[in-house]
Amino acid sequence: MGLAISLPRLRSHIETLSQFGRNPAGQGITRSCWSPPYEEARAWLIARMKDAGLTTWVDEAGNTFGRLGEGAPTVMTGSHIDTVPQGGSLDGALGVLAGLECLHTLREANVRTRRPLTLAAWSDEEGRYASLFGSKAFTGKLDARQIPHFRSADGEALVDAMARAGFDPLEAPKAKCDPKTLAAYVELHIEQGPHLEAARLPIGSVEGIVGNRRAWVTFIGQADHAGTTPMEWRKDAFLGAAEYALAARELVVKRGGGKSVTNFGRIEISPGVSNIVPARAILLHEMRSLDGRTLARLDRQCRVLARAVAKRRRLRVKVETISQSLPVHCSRRVMKAVEAACGELGLKYRRMPSGAGHDAQNLASVTDSGMLFIPSRGGRSHRPDETSDWKAIERGGNVLLHTLLQLAG
Ligand code: HGY
Ligand code: MN
Ligand code: MN
Repeated sequence: MGLAISLPRLRSHIETLSQFGRNPAGQGITRSCWSPPYEEARAWLIARMKDAGLTTWVDEAGNTFGRLGEGAPTVMTGSHIDTVPQGGSLDGALGVLAGLECLHTLREANVRTRRPLTLAAWSDEEGRYASLFGSKAFTGKLDARQIPHFRSADGEALVDAMARAGFDPLEAPKAKCDPKTLAAYVELHIEQGPHLEAARLPIGSVEGIVGNRRAWVTFIGQADHAGTTPMEWRKDAFLGAAEYALAARELVVKRGGGKSVTNFGRIEISPGVSNIVPARAILLHEMRSLDGRTLARLDRQCRVLARAVAKRRRLRVKVETISQSLPVHCSRRVMKAVEAACGELGLKYRRMPSGAGHDAQNLASVTDSGMLFIPSRGGRSHRPDETSDWKAIERGGNVLLHTLLQLAG
């Protein structure tokens, strides 16, 4: 079928969406979920969904939907329109806007698929407050008791951010779907890494998505005068955190089975002035692995390591898990649909894992779920100069279109 998306229309939507939350002087885009720029972007997206002839709605967890066709079960596609701070214009946005473009193209061509098609923009995928929040709620994984405790790294409560955007946070678990209403889920995303570009391949057929464990690791020492206190007397919380970070990195690299990574994205030191020995140092520590058992083992080993470092330095330490997602295998049926679509379009592909987390890993617990990647220029992502070639974006959109036709019949 000679169906193809309209790249000019997709390009114009990507460029328009990238204006919501754009930072001055080119430091990328900051469009956190529930923020004013996010809510403006949501309204703009709903208007574009309506232009495409979709029925639209927003659920109790702030997920935004557009639907083409009636009945159940539906084939779903989508991603997220929230960004990391100073992020790029494609992470998440590509999957939502290419999905919109596919449904718009099908409607314009009067194509009637056997199963209806539903587009989703999941809330707070990046986890400013709670990682993969919207798709967790949709797939019934959101524990209502945790909602009052979710907060951003700089201390803003989820309940306040949701209330400001007009949502009742405690209603969020009502977004839970009935798995019988779903037939499949497929998400187009930028690779956010260097492999497809290095292999000069246009498409990645994703076979697995990493699990992620995020935690606060707090070392507690003792404030002292930074000039008069003898060095061997000091209980320096920062040095404990520093030794832990370097040692934990070695542990994950050497003992993570070659498929695990770790990152320390933030440290807070208090009292935090030049002439007081740090009394407290709080590290934001995440670890990822394609293998769930490895991730659990590394978690345990890092806790043992934290206690050993604290003991050696006469500090106290506490480790508080913030969030954890399990690694998933993608659905073979969805992978085959992606690969058949590549075949129809004469495009080469490679099967590969995802080192980034995605909403598709939550959807995997309620339906057949998979992803396809397009190359990221220089493997760059989560930074202002995140980009992909427009030809690559067009190829990804057309493979998504033909994948949806395969899955929806
Ligand atoms: O952090 C991630 O893996 C994704 O970009 N949310
Ligand atoms: Mn991201
Ligand atoms: Mn993403």
